[in-house]
Amino acid sequence: MSKEVLVTGGLGFIGSHTVVEMFSNGYIPIIVDNLSNSSEEVLYGIKKITGKVPTFYNLDVNNKTALSNVFFQHKIQAVIHFAAYKAVGESVQKPLMYYRNNVGGLITLLEVMQENNCHNIVFSSSCTVYGQPTNLPVDESSPVAIPASPYGNTKKICEEILYDNHAFNVVSLRYFNPIGAHPSSMIGELPLGIPNNLVPYITQTAIGLREKLTVYGSDYNTPDGTCIRDYLHVCDLADAHILALERINSIGFGEKEGHFEVYNLGTGNGFSVKEVIDTFISSTGVNLNFTYGPRREGDVEKVWANPSKANKILGWKTKRNLTEMLVSAWEWQKKMNSK
Ligand code: UD1
Repeated sequence: MSKEVLVTGGLGFIGSHTVVEMFSNGYIPIIVDNLSNSSEEVLYGIKKITGKVPTFYNLDVNNKTALSNVFFQHKIQAVIHFAAYKAVGESVQKPLMYYRNNVGGLITLLEVMQENNCHNIVFSSSCTVYGQPTNLPVDESSPVAIPASPYGNTKKICEEILYDNHAFNVVSLRYFNPIGAHPSSMIGELPLGIPNNLVPYITQTAIGLREKLTVYGSDYNTPDGTCIRDYLHVCDLADAHILALERINSIGFGEKEGHFEVYNLGTGNGFSVKEVIDTFISSTGVNLNFTYGPRREGDVEKVWANPSKANKILGWKTKRNLTEMLVSAWEWQKKMNSK
């Protein structure tokens, strides 16, 4: 059986780490990426790690003709769909752009898949669909909340579209907070402009690109007053995508019967912003200039995963701790700055 798998957004942060794992597991990744938040140089990082250059098409998943042509060129068995915009604040400013790209992109992709008899999809979802859960840790039976942003709503709507379409075998992966970089420092996160996310902001401040980190809020109902998240290593997250492909395979690769499963992907441990900062300083020995500021609009107070379902059914276990996550992110930052 062909092991060609289409990876949309395959040059992005999570996509590129997943492509590396796919090669190690005998898959042939076919990357489609429009470079809107990534770079072609990532291909060389992947080559340095794996010795292989993935097939790459510079195109937008909203371009139906071009996407159809990729299916014409390859025997695509499954799709891992990463391609989407992901900045929460920007989605509030430009909601239509987010709906067009994230929701429209999925619909176009599913149409092309259906026309080409491809029924298997792993979808990048987010813990943002839970909002602030009442019970922690949060498991998959927790209700989906009213989304706090258009970005969050696109993830919710995309899951509903996948749920409603019985022609597809779907594994939807709800990521908590992916951070870190490949241990080789050949690939990692490439935030455009000023980072929105905590860890790139920490590493850019530590290296001197930003003056200081602002901790958003110190009066939350948490032990040290700062928000709690479930940070997980991007390489652990990449592993989960391989297991998701295997899961789809085991539940009927190519069968017509629809199937929708959702999994929480986190370590099961919550860390506060202050704990992340302290761990960064103690594990790298680098000082970090930070200050406390007001809360950021739309932030939830605390959220961490119950990953038991992924542990049991996918056989997925996280292997790297917070120190390894932060040290790998720091090594990547140093590598980028040395260029
Ligand atoms: C957000 C989204 C998540 C999305 C992810 C990727 C929500 C609720 N969460 O995660 O769905 O997948 O972005 O873009 O929409 N922080 C600071 N200072 C900073 C930056 C962040 O204190 O300069 C704090 C935040 O307040 C938060 C924590 O660090 O408590 C993590 O923030 P961030 O890395 O932006 O991730 P989330 O907001 O959790």
